[in-house]
Amino acid sequence: EPHPPSSAGAQGVRDRSRATIAAGHLRTDRWWLAPAGTAAGLLAFVVYSTWRAFANADYYHAPYVSPFYSPCLAQNCKPMHAGPNWEIFGPWWGLSPALLILIFPLGFRLTCYYYRKAYYRGFWASPPACAVPEPHKKYTGETRFPLILQNVHRYFFYAALVVAGILTYDTVLSFRNEKYEWGHMGLGTLVFLLNITLIWAYTLSCHSCRHIVGGRLKHFSKHPVRYRLWGWVSKLNGRHMLLAWASLVSVALADFYVYLLASGAFDDPRFF
Ligand code: FES
Repeated sequence: EPHPPSSAGAQGVRDRSRATIAAGHLRTDRWWLAPAGTAAGLLAFVVYSTWRAFANADYYHAPYVSPFYSPCLAQNCKPMHAGPNWEIFGPWWGLSPALLILIFPLGFRLTCYYYRKAYYRGFWASPPACAVPEPHKKYTGETRFPLILQNVHRYFFYAALVVAGILTYDTVLSFRNEKYEWGHMGLGTLVFLLNITLIWAYTLSCHSCRHIVGGRLKHFSKHPVRYRLWGWVSKLNGRHMLLAWASLVSVALADFYVYLLASGAFDDPRFF
């Protein structure tokens, strides 16, 4: 059967070369649940992190510093003895110092292969789900500005390694008490340990990491160490989506825990 003429420039399922099917799509399940859930989860995080990033308060309670505010690169940081306090940015015009540092984890997650899928589906409906056509007339993928910038992901991965290193340092410092004496632990230490484990697992499960570790090799047999590392990263990589969500929740949780302590709403139970 001949195809009806498609509108000029129509692509994807509306392209002339595709079968003519009257129905919008043939899925009968609740396909919209996944993109709707994704959009709701991401939106909740965006609202929470925006509030906390601009709050410029309640981000430190000895010995814990919120992961949203570490390392502190501005002079108007609260005096902290937890994370590095490099003060290279002057008073930062009174703006929240979190904004200086959050650019890196934000850029890492925004350009992440998984999150791209998540927000392309959840927010842009491009496409909303498998086998459900997108409402947009044209599809250019990530070949043009601004989406071509997604290619910088590898560089954000390098930055994320540094950020994970700094959060590891903060976690080590959480093995102190309020007087900065070593060998102590509180509930916050466990919260930080859980968060840093998930942050590292998410960071190392990155697709760029997998390529850096095991890509562009002709013979794995000649690179046994890289082959082994690639095997480990690949295992984590298979759980990238799960780790993306788990670390997103844990980083918000670690920040919220510090907020509760710093605002006086809760007292850190100490184990020893
Ligand atoms: Fe998701 Fe790199 S692909 S963090």
